[in-house]
Amino acid sequence: MRYRNFGRTGQQVSERSFGAWAIGGQSYGPVDPAQALDALARAEELGCNLVDTAAVYGDSEAVLGRFLTGRRDRWMVASKYSGQQQGMSALVEEQLRRLGTDRIDFYQIHWAPHGRDEALYAELDRLKRDGKIRFCGVSLRNAADVDRVLAHALIDGIQMPVSLLDPDPLAARRERLRKSGVAVIARSALRGGFLTGKYDEASTFADAADQRSEWDRDRIRATARQARSFSFVAEAAGSAHAGAIAYPLSFPEVSTVVISCKTAAQADANFGDGVPSSLDPSLLSRIERNQRELQLFHAGRAGRLWQRVRGVFARGGR
Ligand SMILES: NC(=O)c1ccc[n+]([C@@H]2O[C@H](COP(=O)([O-])OP(=O)(O)OC[C@H]3O[C@@H](n4cnc5c(N)ncnc54)[C@H](OP(=O)(O)O)[C@@H]3O)[C@@H](O)[C@H]2O)c1
Repeated sequence: MRYRNFGRTGQQVSERSFGAWAIGGQSYGPVDPAQALDALARAEELGCNLVDTAAVYGDSEAVLGRFLTGRRDRWMVASKYSGQQQGMSALVEEQLRRLGTDRIDFYQIHWAPHGRDEALYAELDRLKRDGKIRFCGVSLRNAADVDRVLAHALIDGIQMPVSLLDPDPLAARRERLRKSGVAVIARSALRGGFLTGKYDEASTFADAADQRSEWDRDRIRATARQARSFSFVAEAAGSAHAGAIAYPLSFPEVSTVVISCKTAAQADANFGDGVPSSLDPSLLSRIERNQRELQLFHAGRAGRLWQRVRGVFARGGR
């Protein structure tokens, strides 16, 4: 395992880290807590030292609390406030109890606040000064969110989707992120398993405790089809899974890629030696061409219209 700076915090984190959404048992099907504890222990053996959870991830925080007993200092624990009614400060107290700790290392607001929600930044600051949280950030969705969040100087890091199927918002804001020096946690690199190549257009998710059971056929079909169009990455990186994780790692702005896993076998694959720390520049160029073909960059309506017009001219000119 290699380690990277977690922004300007002075902390070093494993470049691949443990996403604890799946072990909560309510998003990727039920998970036996003993199996979850094995997955966490294997991740630790392989050098993983950051875990990302949230109060809304089923039993995730409680399982993590059991796991962290006697090994708290080996892990950087990240969690989130998701707008719970009792408010952020009261929730943090509850989370500290569940996690069996006296501080949360990286605390995130689960969306990019604006308008009246911006008062939450002052609350983050208070929690930091009180020592309840060490560093703070926001888990966000798009480039406009990045701009809104980086306007707040107290932010130590952000979390955002970065995958072969989600080149934005990282691509759109790389320079701004580099200049700001904030930590970046890249999430959903496997797109719920679709980028490992194990699911296809016909896959079904019947379990109500699996958030993919809410995906309609069109979404499953489109995700599987787009994922398959990146099969050239699997050939170059050794496997689809390795290529999908190495993609976000290829950008130096990314501090760590957070990957959900439910079993020790998945932890082995995700945190073991089989994943390169970056992809070749020529492969990255080919990936970018495919992403443009699939119109995965969110250029805005005007930009997309221009791409379409340009496509029509290009086809006519051939
Ligand atoms: N808004 C937010 O803040 C937000 C949103 C999403 C995620 N996150 C964070 O990001 C983490 C990761 O994101 P994610 O859950 O969206 O997606 P992900 O890591 O892209 O996909 C995870 C799923 O892929 C499958 N998988 C994992 N390892 C595998 C392996 N070695 N081989 C084959 N399949 C494998 C597993 O599902 P199956 O085994 O069931 O197929 C797993 O649950 C989460 O745990 C959470 O910490 C945050």
